[in-house]
Amino acid sequence: MKYPSTSRPLSFRSLGRHLLLLGACLLSGLANAEEIQSPNKQLTLDFTLQADGVPTYSLTYKGRPVIKTSKLGLELKNAPALTSGFTVAGSKQSTFDETWQPVWGETKNIRNNYNELAVTLNQAATSRTVIVHFRVFNDGLGFRYEFPRQPKLDYFTIKEEKSEFALAGDHKAFWLPGDYDTQEYSTVTSNLSQVRGLMKEATTPNASQTPFSATGVQTPLMLKSKDGLYINIHEAALIDYSAMHLELDDKNFVLTSHLTPDAVGDKGLIQTPAVSPWRTVIVSDKAGDILESKLVLNLNEPTKFKDVSWIKPVKYVGVWWEMITGKSTWSYTNQENIKLDSIDYSKVKPNGTHAANTAHVKEYIDFAAKHGFDGVLVEGWNIGWEDWFGKHKDYVFDFVTPYPDFNVPELQQYAASKNVKIIMHHETSGAIRNYERHLDSAFQFMNKYGYTAVKTGYVGDIVPLGHHHYDQWVNNHYQYVLEKAAEHKIMVNGHEAVRPTGLARTFPNLIGNEAARGTEYEAFGGNNADHTTILPFTRLIGGPMDYTPGIFQTKVSAYNPSNTSFVHTTLARQLALYVTMYSPLQMAADLPETYNKHLDAFQFIKDVAVDWDDSKVLEAEPGDYITIARKAKGKSSWFVGSTCDEQGRTSKINFSFLDPGKKYTATIYADGKNAHYEKNPQAYAIRKMTVTNKTKLSQLCAPGGGYAISIMEAGK
Ligand code: NOJ
Ligand code: CA
Repeated sequence: MKYPSTSRPLSFRSLGRHLLLLGACLLSGLANAEEIQSPNKQLTLDFTLQADGVPTYSLTYKGRPVIKTSKLGLELKNAPALTSGFTVAGSKQSTFDETWQPVWGETKNIRNNYNELAVTLNQAATSRTVIVHFRVFNDGLGFRYEFPRQPKLDYFTIKEEKSEFALAGDHKAFWLPGDYDTQEYSTVTSNLSQVRGLMKEATTPNASQTPFSATGVQTPLMLKSKDGLYINIHEAALIDYSAMHLELDDKNFVLTSHLTPDAVGDKGLIQTPAVSPWRTVIVSDKAGDILESKLVLNLNEPTKFKDVSWIKPVKYVGVWWEMITGKSTWSYTNQENIKLDSIDYSKVKPNGTHAANTAHVKEYIDFAAKHGFDGVLVEGWNIGWEDWFGKHKDYVFDFVTPYPDFNVPELQQYAASKNVKIIMHHETSGAIRNYERHLDSAFQFMNKYGYTAVKTGYVGDIVPLGHHHYDQWVNNHYQYVLEKAAEHKIMVNGHEAVRPTGLARTFPNLIGNEAARGTEYEAFGGNNADHTTILPFTRLIGGPMDYTPGIFQTKVSAYNPSNTSFVHTTLARQLALYVTMYSPLQMAADLPETYNKHLDAFQFIKDVAVDWDDSKVLEAEPGDYITIARKAKGKSSWFVGSTCDEQGRTSKINFSFLDPGKKYTATIYADGKNAHYEKNPQAYAIRKMTVTNKTKLSQLCAPGGGYAISIMEAGK
């Protein structure tokens, strides 16, 4: 899990410029201050070594401060800090420009174009060397620490990373409480100065949670300055390192990195040569640019997978929402205190509510086949669910033994005969050592029965106890699972795992993650009506989310009378989410019986693509609204999604993204008259119109509503 050398191949196009810059640098000697700009010159990065040998950087965008002078460095355990006493031992500038094609993605081509400054810092008193790499793109900055192999820094323990992000003011922030174990909080929108006062209320209960400070927040952190700069802070390529949070100094508006500790409080065990993840700052004066940024992906390594033909975007239904709402159960019996190795399931009484039974799963397979879905997720198929939650048990699941009413070979044959794949589910209950113990047999089982994708889950505290969901050791577990899965040609969708950091570029079998508050919370009390106008600016900056949209029956009590939760969106907005919440893995999460009542609206979910040649943000403001148009991969059809907050609004778009001279048929799935996410969520209206690239549209979005449009080339 070590990174290769950080030197990058140069494209021919950029070679000349590279040599020029290098020459300029050599002539200038070793400077304590150096500056580089983005390729379009709108961003400027300054590196300065202060008088006491403290490395600092700052960033401007169009001459406006984004990050003011901010310190760099790390504190080590039982060793002098790597924060001061440095001299510049060398520096190198280079430039890079390539266009690459993701295995799946929002666009067919991604341009990776940056100028890089690498500063070699020498701490004479300790004979240690650290290299700081800065990459300046047109859409932001990435920087990382490189620790070359060296006698005085061969193996060390991080006490804390001290990378600062000094902001230029009391920005508006879209934040989650910093927490070592959960990301499943509602986003709070407030000024930075208000974080402390709101922290307690924001820290809502979760199955595993470890908040760490009154001013600690998570990344990706979305910010907006008073003068209209949009700034996003996150990290890229989180490998063999602990996840970063941000500790806020709420007087000076300085954010400082705060790493997740392991079971003994250490924040990283590093053997050189090694690199840290990239720290990322995306910036623009247009909100839509933040959504279109590919900076986090670009800071990850290209994939080394030779064969990617087995990695395919997936649209799926599942035996899932009925358990989440409480209509059915994952477990086969109502027994409690079950020891997995001592129970004979064939002798216990079934509870009659177990959804993952052969006959019922066949109904889902039939539904999937009839409507063209690729997969059926089945949760609760394997033994152990009676006693999995909240007990810190090591051995809960074996991942290979079905309940007596779930016939694996029969269902696989049935699914195969209908050209549908069953999606595997591995809930680990956070017992990661137990999962690793069973991983080989679990993946062999999947290969044997033709499963090609697994949804993993890490509900509850990590076992062994003391570890945290986002510490280095546990991040290495997720990485191990991902790489092992790739050996078995298995795609992974990790729930409760660490937030993504663009790793899917390198490991494109990481087809999805949860790592935020998903649709499931609509059945656990609800998500805020503005939730999905924020997530694309925060959580999705790191990679796609398995948000599981498509809930048409917004009253949960329709499935479980004792559950009074409701979905905080209109039905039309549920459709929009397939476009605004980008993911190559999209679920139609509601029950077939409900879709059968709304087949006209369901048509959009059937038609919408999950992989794209192009994506354009048409309108966006974090917390208020997002409208995106995407072109289906290898096709001429486009899909538009628009989502707005509880205020409602009129969306005004034009169709200039369409090919000139062509005629298209647009089907608009909009909020109906008087639609409202709480009072009248199911009112929708569908209309058709002919559109060209000259067409303009003014479309009302209800409070908590939105719209979706499918646009098919006429005659195709
Ligand atoms: C939490 C996951 O987010 C959810 O999708 C899953 O059904 C449950 N855990 C059970 O594994
Ligand atoms: Ca979850």
